Amino acid sequence: MNFYVMTLFPEMITEGLHTSILGRAMDAGIISLEAVNIRDYTLDKHRHVDDYPYGGGAGMVMAAEPIARCYEDILAKRGEAKKPRVVYLTPWGRVFNQNMAKELAQEEDLVFLCGHYEGVDERILDEIVTDYVSIGDYVLSGGELPAMVMIDAISRMVPGVLTNEESGTTESFENSLLEYPQYTRPEVWNGASVPEVLLSGNHAKIAEWRTERSIDRTLMFRPELIKDAVLDKKAAKYLRAKQQEKTEE
Ligand code: ADE
Repeated sequence: MNFYVMTLFPEMITEGLHTSILGRAMDAGIISLEAVNIRDYTLDKHRHVDDYPYGGGAGMVMAAEPIARCYEDILAKRGEAKKPRVVYLTPWGRVFNQNMAKELAQEEDLVFLCGHYEGVDERILDEIVTDYVSIGDYVLSGGELPAMVMIDAISRMVPGVLTNEESGTTESFENSLLEYPQYTRPEVWNGASVPEVLLSGNHAKIAEWRTERSIDRTLMFRPELIKDAVLDKKAAKYLRAKQQEKTEE
């Protein structure tokens, strides 16, 4: 999968993402990432990317032409007839989630447009953007961090990016349950012991304990998720008992 990011801060994207799992996937050629500097596509000698808003008001607006030229260059580089999806990061977009990450991971190429200042000339958005996406109900200074968040989450859904061991942790979120608590050595730290069952070597008991702790945690922090959880008989019984307890409280 190939990611292209149109931005005024290309180093932020490349340096921020070339680490850990994504760095490994890029080195292995499973995903590629190119951050393209919109400023390289300006035509005036001062390399202006923004201008005053028509109608007045505070701040500056990113102009359409450099973005259009930047986008055309990406299309030319790809050399493919089919137009790629173009994501514009904005607080008024659809809120990003794991399902969207999975869906976007099906694309071969994905282009991101990162805005700054007060926004981007609407005419270039109308022209090229296919998806308006927000990463949450708060306002950030630009689209770079949201693009990075999305690229990380999407890449993890691309086959071959995660090892078998790593994908286990993703599946549990997909099953609408939060992660169970984890422990490592030492057995006693600061007076607190590792739960006995984890030292037992009984894998069935350990699996059962972990599922129950996942259920507890989901009920505690994200109760709205539990209705979508896929549970085996034993876990379903545990959940019913917990919910029963709660109604009796
Ligand atoms: N740009 C600024 N804030 C944003 C947000 N919350 N999500 C996506 N893009 C943004």
